Amino acid sequence: MKRTKIVDIFAPEHIGSEVCVKGWVRTRRGNKNVQFVALNDGSTVRNLQVVFDLTKFSDEQLKPVTTGSSICVIGKLVESMGKGQTCEVQADSLEIYGTADPNEYPLQKKGHTLEFLREKAHLRPRTATFGAILRIRSALAFAIHKFFQEKGFFYLHTPLITGSDCEGAGAMFQVTTLPLDKLPKTDDGSIDYSKDFFGKPTALTVSGQLEGELGATALGAIYTFGPTFRAENSNTPRHLAEFWMIEPEMAFYDITDNMDLAEEFVKYCIGYALDNCRDDINFLMEHFDAKLVERLEFVLHNDFVRLPYTEGIEILKASGKKFEFPVEWGVDLQSEHERFLVEEHFKRPVILTDYPKEIKAFYMKQNDDGRTVRAMDVLFPMIGEIIGGSEREADYDKLLARIEELNIPMKDMWWYLDTRRFGTVPHSGFGLGFERLVLFVTGMTNIRDVIPFPRTPNNAEF
Ligand code: 4AD
Ligand code: MG
Repeated sequence: MKRTKIVDIFAPEHIGSEVCVKGWVRTRRGNKNVQFVALNDGSTVRNLQVVFDLTKFSDEQLKPVTTGSSICVIGKLVESMGKGQTCEVQADSLEIYGTADPNEYPLQKKGHTLEFLREKAHLRPRTATFGAILRIRSALAFAIHKFFQEKGFFYLHTPLITGSDCEGAGAMFQVTTLPLDKLPKTDDGSIDYSKDFFGKPTALTVSGQLEGELGATALGAIYTFGPTFRAENSNTPRHLAEFWMIEPEMAFYDITDNMDLAEEFVKYCIGYALDNCRDDINFLMEHFDAKLVERLEFVLHNDFVRLPYTEGIEILKASGKKFEFPVEWGVDLQSEHERFLVEEHFKRPVILTDYPKEIKAFYMKQNDDGRTVRAMDVLFPMIGEIIGGSEREADYDKLLARIEELNIPMKDMWWYLDTRRFGTVPHSGFGLGFERLVLFVTGMTNIRDVIPFPRTPNNAEF
């Protein structure tokens, strides 16, 4: 008999018919006449109640039906008398696929802490919480493609192994096939990378932007969506060593076009989740964050504040607040500063623009004042920076001068500079940290809980 997914069972037309359901047992309870099993197959946060009448099933038959075991049940779907569910299956037949020894199965009890579940990352997708998070994550990924595809952007696949450091922060994971215990050396004693796989030093990319600019100056508007890697030793609730980033890049966009797109884009994603993930969002709201929907709707229905960095600094200085990191024009903003502006001062998302050039990457368009660049960071409640972007420096000489000023090796950059040598155009782009978006939409507070297998310092077990 054909299996019906639990998510589809709740449609009214199935009532009264015979169904076949398959899944994992969440709980089993009951008495000596009847046993109730809460069955989940991952298709929805809702469990299906399966009722075993003990005149039809023996204790022996039901013994392996414990939390975590996997079963197939055929039975009649009927309206339920019980509280909290609309229908239930009255089991006629039972097949056990796999048992889960109650003395060994780690998710035996309900209500484990998120910290405990991080240690069980291989099994936590089977919990209601992580099922909800992972379904929302999947829906958001789909929404992102839908948004850009419907706008005529092309999905560009940029390389994961690269020879250049886009953000210039030097926090890259080296990729090599050289034997680490017997490195080949040149005459002057340095490592001989001509013997390495690519004949030069390479690393995992921190951003697809530079290659994205090649795409945008050919196809007009592109976006990337892929993993990026940063070897920063940051153990914060907002940093991962491996995270996913979406990077649109658009020819003929100035910074205002860029801000408009960024705002429309995040609002679209939030709206999509509210429209399509309501059961999961409601579950997370009930269990973790009662204000979740209110916050999502608030962001959806309010214009983002747009403010130059310099004015932001003035507001922070005038606030009279004691920050852990003191504020002065020229400092990179910490999340405490970003969150003050967003959560306390403006009480809505803020797009901060025109940062000091010293704290931003080499490729940003230089302003006429000689000290700021056309950067734009989108700052969110609870999260801080969710998007970083800019208009790009389109002028060959200015870009070259900045590259030389920062001692960025030209041998890594000649191909990038060619975009400015041949048919340069004004253009802009930004990067959205996917996990930070998932954090915001799920209301979770630790980034390790919104990616299936988080990579952080000293953590690559699963
Ligand atoms: O601000 P970032 O470093 O900007 C770039 O990489 C540009 N190349 C983007 C562009 O203009 N195309 O990173 C962009 C976003 C941040 O705003 C943040 O949301 C996220 O990526 N991000 C991280 N997310 C998780 N863990 C980390 N270690 C992150 N670093 C940045
Ligand atoms: Mg940034």
